[in-house]
Amino acid sequence: MSLTFSATVTGSVTDGVLVVTIDNPPVNAASADMRQGLFAAIDHAAADSGIAGVVVTGAGKTFVGGADIREFGKPMAEPLLPQLVNHIEACDKPVVAAINGAALGGGLEIALGCHHRIASPAAKLGLPEVKLGIVPGAGGTQRLPRLAGIVAAAEMAATGRMVGADEALALGIVDEVTTDDLVAKAVAAVGALAGDPPRRSGELAVQAADAEAFDKMSAKVLARARGQDAPAEALRLVRSAGERTLAEGLVDERATFIRLRDADQAKALRHVFFAERAAAKVDGLEGVEPRPIRTIGIVGLGLMGSGIAVAALDGGYTVIGAEMTAEAAEKGRERIVAVLDRNVASGRLDADGREKRLARLTTSGRLEDLADADLVIEAVFDDLAVKTELFQRLDAIVRPDAVLATNTSYLDPDVLAAATTRPERVVGLHFFSPANIMRLVEVVNCARTAPDVLATALAVAKKLGKLPVVSGVTEGFIGNSIFSAYRREAEFLLEDGALPQEIDAAMEAYGFAMGPFAVFDLAGLEIAWARRKRQAGTRDPAERYVEIADRLCEAGRFGQKAGRGWYAYPDGKRTVDPEVTALIEAARTKKSIVARRIEAEEIVSRLLGAMAAEGDRLLANKIALRASDIDLVLINGYGFPAHRGGPMFAAGRS
Ligand code: 3HC
Repeated sequence: MSLTFSATVTGSVTDGVLVVTIDNPPVNAASADMRQGLFAAIDHAAADSGIAGVVVTGAGKTFVGGADIREFGKPMAEPLLPQLVNHIEACDKPVVAAINGAALGGGLEIALGCHHRIASPAAKLGLPEVKLGIVPGAGGTQRLPRLAGIVAAAEMAATGRMVGADEALALGIVDEVTTDDLVAKAVAAVGALAGDPPRRSGELAVQAADAEAFDKMSAKVLARARGQDAPAEALRLVRSAGERTLAEGLVDERATFIRLRDADQAKALRHVFFAERAAAKVDGLEGVEPRPIRTIGIVGLGLMGSGIAVAALDGGYTVIGAEMTAEAAEKGRERIVAVLDRNVASGRLDADGREKRLARLTTSGRLEDLADADLVIEAVFDDLAVKTELFQRLDAIVRPDAVLATNTSYLDPDVLAAATTRPERVVGLHFFSPANIMRLVEVVNCARTAPDVLATALAVAKKLGKLPVVSGVTEGFIGNSIFSAYRREAEFLLEDGALPQEIDAAMEAYGFAMGPFAVFDLAGLEIAWARRKRQAGTRDPAERYVEIADRLCEAGRFGQKAGRGWYAYPDGKRTVDPEVTALIEAARTKKSIVARRIEAEEIVSRLLGAMAAEGDRLLANKIALRASDIDLVLINGYGFPAHRGGPMFAAGRS
């Protein structure tokens, strides 16, 4: 018999067990309708003496993806999620969660409210609320430590890390993992549990935490949180679960959840969440099928190329790495192996994964060996003549339908495309270093790129686990255009009276991991210097130009690698150098600028303003498709703090 509890929750009775299915695409979020339906299903089971207990499961590949994020900021209809979870837990008949896929946030909280949990191997469990600037609001911080212990629960709640089925079993979060029919197993479990008092997570005692392990974990979490409020609150709530009753803990948790949900950080992080989903949608690509890609060729196996090769191997592709000579190819192979070995040493990869990746890798000193590639990504020295010649050679080697991608940062990919017989099959794939770690890829839609080629580039980047953002063609694309505006304004601030350490301190207090001058030193100053020298002839003499960076380079201060740049680095430690201060003062004097004290607030607002103004230009010229794309580029490629939402969001533009 089929029962309907709401538009998204239905039930059927099997062997005297009510099997409740949540079907609320795309991710079975706990919307008002879903909460009402599930609440009613529990009531139905409680009232029907012919029903022994309940199984709760999700339709499709998700159990429950969490609270409905679109409801945040709107009035919430009852039952609220905490009421629903308490209702499930209070039921006198056994309620078993059959966790068929992701059980995240409110989804895990619903599972924790059940009396027994069985997971399929595909299950992923976690409390990702901190990534949205909030803490769990329906008992996650109080029930999880009762099952998994304080340290493990606090780490999960404060980082948002998801665990797979096996780890969840080892931690005691689920009771069984099964490869058999999940719902049948859960129905049988209800039969076995019926008659016994339900095992309620909330009634279990909290084991005392290992204080040393907790402190070590929380120090690590807080160091990474950098100005975000939610992780510290999650740690506090989980830790205090051992010191008070469930009811007291739930009241504090809910109040904290509401306070954080309505605060600016959560608004910014929600913006980032929806920005990421929006970035995947590109006008004109609806219904366009990406081309099948199996083999990726990579030309140039330096730092960038070898990182891209590792990312492609991680993504499951067959990789052909090409260099100009056999010796260079061998060196490239060693670089790739070294990255894989480091990943094994750090536990990110196991020995079997390493072998499987190496079995898919060949390296060669001959470009002709790229003939079988479906996509070739070039990552050679960023020089127009070098890349143009390379594209012409590749054009003659690879199949006519293969895609050619350039990883250039500053060159015009339209020029490279025009040098081939297939400009519509050319696209930009601008990775960030280290390419196997950094999430951002700017996918450059060149003047003649065909829609299926753009769709292919997006699909490949997604398969590599990256966040692809489409950019049009302009010098430096989205990221480096904004970063240049940021650099320019930072240099104006220097001339006007601020010092590098003051500017860096202001931006670090705002939430950047490193201020601009520390970043320049880390990246090295010589490439930007070479570009400035190239542009000197065409620069508008009326334009404000700050010469301080040129003076540093002339003095051999090329940054951290040289031991000296905007700072000195005795023993590798960033230190203010009076010689730099003197250079800055001399530059001001030369231009008769009277230095004034510039407060941190002005520093931040001028730098953000410069980024947003450049963002406006990119939008006006259709280089960026939407303001939120610009935010994603800065957050994922340039260390802009996610909890500030990105430069366009911070300026009220997105
Ligand atoms: N609420 C509303 N919409 C959601 C959602 C949610 N919790 N999670 C995902 N969606 C939407 C996305 O916006 C997207 O919509 P679109 O197609 O219109 O753009 C669609 O679902 C598909 O999302 P993804 O592209 O992310 O799908 P994937 O299959 O790649 O991933 C997922 C699925 C792993 C569930 C992923 O969507 C995810 O991580 N979601 C967020 C989970 C989360 O943060 N949950 C906690 C919510 S807060 C909470 O529960 C508070 C509670 O403690 C009180």
